[in-house]
Amino acid sequence: MDWKLDSRHPIGLFDSGVGGFTVLKELKHILPNEQFIYFGDTRNLPYGDKSPEIIHNWATNSIKFLLRLKVKAIVVACNISSSVLTKEELTAIPVPVFTLIEYGAKRAVEVTRLKKVGVLATMATVQTRSYERVLSSLDNGIEVVQSACPKFVPMIESGKLATKEIEATVREYLTPITESGADAIIYGCSHYPLLSRVIEKYVNGAVLIDPAVEVAKAVKEKLSEIPALRTDPPHPDVFFVSKITENFLSTAKTFLGQDISGHTLEWIVNE
Ligand code: DGL
Repeated sequence: MDWKLDSRHPIGLFDSGVGGFTVLKELKHILPNEQFIYFGDTRNLPYGDKSPEIIHNWATNSIKFLLRLKVKAIVVACNISSSVLTKEELTAIPVPVFTLIEYGAKRAVEVTRLKKVGVLATMATVQTRSYERVLSSLDNGIEVVQSACPKFVPMIESGKLATKEIEATVREYLTPITESGADAIIYGCSHYPLLSRVIEKYVNGAVLIDPAVEVAKAVKEKLSEIPALRTDPPHPDVFFVSKITENFLSTAKTFLGQDISGHTLEWIVNE
């Protein structure tokens, strides 16, 4: 496909729900003039307990949807989506595409001194072993300890981030990682930084790595190089969801500091 990159076009990103907000926040922080289009597949969340085939189908539809809106770059703000897409599929996308796993893994390899890296992720991401693969391709001496956290996304999407149950669940999921002595821990699901205040308390001195911070730097670097950075004042971001939820709107307000109710549209991307 012939694709003309235009610096005035928006950057697209997608996730199952509010997880991608953690990526959007980092992007907006270092790319203040860009306009973003966000798709949250709220009708189908959580993705983490679905099959790789279904997630693959949804991720492909989300990418096609963003391309139809003429985005100049796509950030797959969902680890499980990029875990099920092949390298060939990602490179066939006619605009620059960024995934969290590569950047999170790269940072973890730089940070770990003990060569032991913990990964907190959804069940589906853990099962694809995508982090293990990428980490060992960067350094095959790295020991990877994964912990599946199936309760986190439903808790975050329920909007109650400060309950006793969350505290106990965070402790439970971190135990295998801290007991292994890992000194770097990757947020292997974009939702999890929303629990950072609790997670930070139980990491036992390990460094927490948010791949969103790294990916945002990479997007800026790539757009500067093309060049396709936007320089005029930003237009408001546009949000699409497959189902409008109270949590989506309220998390945008509390976490992103944006009242998005006037520019959030319901759109069925995935049947
Ligand atoms: N936030 C997503 C991820 O990074 C998906 C979480 C889910 O819906 O289970 O994997």
